[in-house]
Amino acid sequence: MCGIIGYVGDKEIVPLLLKGLQCLEYRGYDSAGIAIHRGHNLNVIKTIGKISNLEEVIKNKTEYNGKNGHINCGIGHTRWATHGEPSDVNAHPHFDTEEKIAVVHNGIIRNYQEIKEKLTHHGLTFVTQTDTEVIVQLISRNLKKTKSAVEAISKSVNELEGSYAIAILFKGESDKIYAVRKEAPLVIGIGNGENFVASDIPTLSQFVDKVIRLNDNEITIVTKNNVEFYNLSGEKIKKEPQIITKTKDILDKKGFKHYLAKEINEQAEVISNLLKDFLPGAGKPVQFDCLKFDPSFLKNIDRVLILACGTAYHAGLTAKYILETLTSIPVEVQFSSEFITASPLLTKKSLVIGISQSGETADTLAAIKKAVSTGATLLGITNRADSALADLAKEHLILSKAGVEISVAATKTFTAQLTVLYLLAVYISEVQGLRRAEIQSIKQELRELPQLVDQALLRAEYYQEQIIKYANKRDFVFIGRGVNYPIALEAALKLKELSYIHASGYASGEMKHGPIAVLDPNVPVVSICVPGETYDRVIQNSLEAKSRKAPMIAVAVDGDKKADSIFDTVLHIPQISEIISPFLVVIPLQFLAYYIAEALGQDIDQPRNLAKSVTVE
Ligand code: AGP
Repeated sequence: MCGIIGYVGDKEIVPLLLKGLQCLEYRGYDSAGIAIHRGHNLNVIKTIGKISNLEEVIKNKTEYNGKNGHINCGIGHTRWATHGEPSDVNAHPHFDTEEKIAVVHNGIIRNYQEIKEKLTHHGLTFVTQTDTEVIVQLISRNLKKTKSAVEAISKSVNELEGSYAIAILFKGESDKIYAVRKEAPLVIGIGNGENFVASDIPTLSQFVDKVIRLNDNEITIVTKNNVEFYNLSGEKIKKEPQIITKTKDILDKKGFKHYLAKEINEQAEVISNLLKDFLPGAGKPVQFDCLKFDPSFLKNIDRVLILACGTAYHAGLTAKYILETLTSIPVEVQFSSEFITASPLLTKKSLVIGISQSGETADTLAAIKKAVSTGATLLGITNRADSALADLAKEHLILSKAGVEISVAATKTFTAQLTVLYLLAVYISEVQGLRRAEIQSIKQELRELPQLVDQALLRAEYYQEQIIKYANKRDFVFIGRGVNYPIALEAALKLKELSYIHASGYASGEMKHGPIAVLDPNVPVVSICVPGETYDRVIQNSLEAKSRKAPMIAVAVDGDKKADSIFDTVLHIPQISEIISPFLVVIPLQFLAYYIAEALGQDIDQPRNLAKSVTVE
């Protein structure tokens, strides 16, 4: 987490750094700050809270206005707190004691306590509770013993354990940004008479057409007209720029009040685009040119292991049902964070599927590395072509192409992951030559899906009217079975994230084994009742909940009279088969979380304590 931006060029620097930070704010919003060269000094300005707070603080300080035509050089940071509470003092950039070096950092320094103790023993005092401060103090100390900044940086990072993307300014070198990385993203943006550093490519694409990605253990020196790269032994390395696809103004809400509402409403289009890419016309098989599998591997997979976190994990759980229904392969889904310490039961015939919207989630990257070390084959699914997961899964990579998702709560990237996973299940099944008739009907239903999703999205206001009366409840229970059990989990996660209301998702049959004890007239139960194999049982479990006087809400298809007669509130979705229903069921549940959170006045796009990219384990 945390976002880094840096600029060196002739333009007015503060607005540029602030715009970059706004694009990166999804990575954390506990505090923000910038450091710029001014005259002979390094100036740092930072504050607790969002970028808007920093803008307010800067507004009246004329010394932070630019000097067009001169070299302007600076770095900025937006923080998700790991070591030390969100506060002005713990906000980045951090200075060394002599205020000659300013550093911004994304990542975690695991051995920071040991380094801190060592440096304290040598007489240095620390003013923050952050792990980052040891980096700047180390560089400062090593600079005195070495011949160059590159040598000092290299000596310092050799002492660090953990992950880091670091950008550094040195007093007296007012035209240079130094940067180094290990297991945290950092990209150099190549402009015309100006250059940038940033944590991601979409941010850079607001300013430049070309980028160079910094790899682990590489140091860069960025000036207005030049970018140099070194390895940790101080040897120069040659790196070529790559042209990037411009991401249209990522900060445009397109008339919606929140990014979340915009992103929920983009789901039909996202699904439709993926279907255009991977599902050719009737009679033709699903096509994934991005997968280079030998068909004999796909025919002989002994097991699939899906690794993911949060919403991506819920997409993985849904995929388990689909893959096991359509193929002959047993599927296991694990939280990445749990797999890191598990004993992998994988072979060379196993397929590991890593799912991550950001492609930067530290838990998922660590779990994947462990899984592939067994010789299993990796398939990556990510929304970010520029991510670490995309790098790891080069050979078998499916991009979920949902476009940039700004709201911290995932919505359109979830349905994009589902689309890709359904198509993948069909693809493997077709290679295996299984369930031909069933596959044809699923493909036809997928083709019709964007239209149905659109119809559900048009019901937003009706969902709002139905839902809003429950905004005063402090606990919610979501229940579903089979393919909709993961959607109950996802609905509970969305409600927690957005509204801070406590919510749990259960397989509906499990309610009677304990969770039913929490029910009373203040705990609404939301049942997912879609006609099909699970319907009667979910209804039965819902009746058990109703007899405990819980307020009863259902997601049910149009014309379901039984649901209308049992539940206090029914959120109707268009008619759909059970196997495809998660795509539609999730929509009223996303709206439920959104409208309740909005009614409570919560911060919809940037919920407290969260960040979109969780780059720490
Ligand atoms: C979803 O709403 C969450 N913000 C979170 O659970 C997220 O899905 C999780 O952190 C995984 O992120 P990733 O997909 O980028 O790996």
